[in-house]
Amino acid sequence: MTTAEIQALNDAHIINTYGTRKIAMQRGDGMRLWDADGREYLDFFAGIAVVNLGHCPASVTEAITEQARTLVHVSNLYYIEPQVKLAALLCEKTFADQWFFCNSGAESVEAAIKLARRYWAQKGTPKPVILSANESFHGRTIGAVTATGQPKYHEGFEPMLSDMGKFDYGDIAALEAAVTDKVGAVLLEPIQGEGGVRIPPKGYLEAVRKLCDDKGILLIFDEVQTGLGRTGSLFAHTQCGVTPDIMTVAKGLGNGVPIGALGCTAEAATGFSVGSHAATFGGNPLCSAAALATVTALTEPGFFEAAAEVGAYFAEGLRGLAEKFDTILEVRAAGLMIGVEMTKPVGPLVAAMIDSGVICGPAGPNVLRFLPPLIVSKEDIDTVLSKLETELGAF
Ligand SMILES: Cc1ncc(COP(=O)(O)O)c(C=O)c1O
Repeated sequence: MTTAEIQALNDAHIINTYGTRKIAMQRGDGMRLWDADGREYLDFFAGIAVVNLGHCPASVTEAITEQARTLVHVSNLYYIEPQVKLAALLCEKTFADQWFFCNSGAESVEAAIKLARRYWAQKGTPKPVILSANESFHGRTIGAVTATGQPKYHEGFEPMLSDMGKFDYGDIAALEAAVTDKVGAVLLEPIQGEGGVRIPPKGYLEAVRKLCDDKGILLIFDEVQTGLGRTGSLFAHTQCGVTPDIMTVAKGLGNGVPIGALGCTAEAATGFSVGSHAATFGGNPLCSAAALATVTALTEPGFFEAAAEVGAYFAEGLRGLAEKFDTILEVRAAGLMIGVEMTKPVGPLVAAMIDSGVICGPAGPNVLRFLPPLIVSKEDIDTVLSKLETELGAF
């Protein structure tokens, strides 16, 4: 089909919630995408931080193909070999002792909210209030969107979930002031993604951990965007040496095959028991096989170090552009999660970059965001920096 034919069917039959660009991607390979009209793009967005290994990496494609031939779905009423192998690998590589699998980031956040509430209810000391940060993003289900600290996502959907409080991100005194004896959990992105690639001050996550310990509060890190190597380590929180009680994961976990997960300590896991939570598709053979192949490839020795090094190279190049263009206010980078704060809305710049063959996106109105696959080369980065320099000249 041509782009025009696909667009006609899209406009007739798809509910317009995305403001979709008039491009139909049809093929991907590594860092590159090709659209229905045969145009080539360099992908610096990875399907919103999802295809961290690039498009169609052989090991994941083989795992999916093999599993699709063998068994796609059976439900969690039976043991699932790829799922238990995935859980064991994730336990080996993270703080978590146990896992629950679902289908998306929002679902993993929803599971975390439910687990935290039930944990305290089971103990006989109900503490239903969950605190999350202003400007955060946690997904679109009603619990996750209530936790999301951006009122524009709440409009028209009220009433929101009750007993959900907010605090200013990066300010430990603000969190302290929001704590009451009804607060059972704090939900936090180690780096805010959709809120504009906001990196908290040094020592902040450690201070949050300490506050939670002092007050008897569960700490939930939402690593849906920061996880799976995006910031230079398997999960971002390991870089500050503190662990949460519960962690939410999705996006890069299946390198594009939908899978979400909640990992937690054995103690936090006692909040759930048989029948208390479920997902029909959660961790089914197909998505678990994809995730197992993905995490295996991501955790090859040296992979993150290489990604962190090219991330630093990219950030340095962007800071060079910031010296030339007054429209750039700040470059914020953690591994290959990069935000460039501009003086004005970035919509036209994103459109111009895509027209020039580079896929990137915004993070809030004024932040240009790059989330390339972690296999990106310095050569690809040089190409993007040069195109960005040209587009900034006209911005
Ligand atoms: C930090 C964070 N949490 C949760 C979500 C929601 O994930 P999903 O779109 O898979 O529901 C996102 C999506 O951008 C996210 O960035």
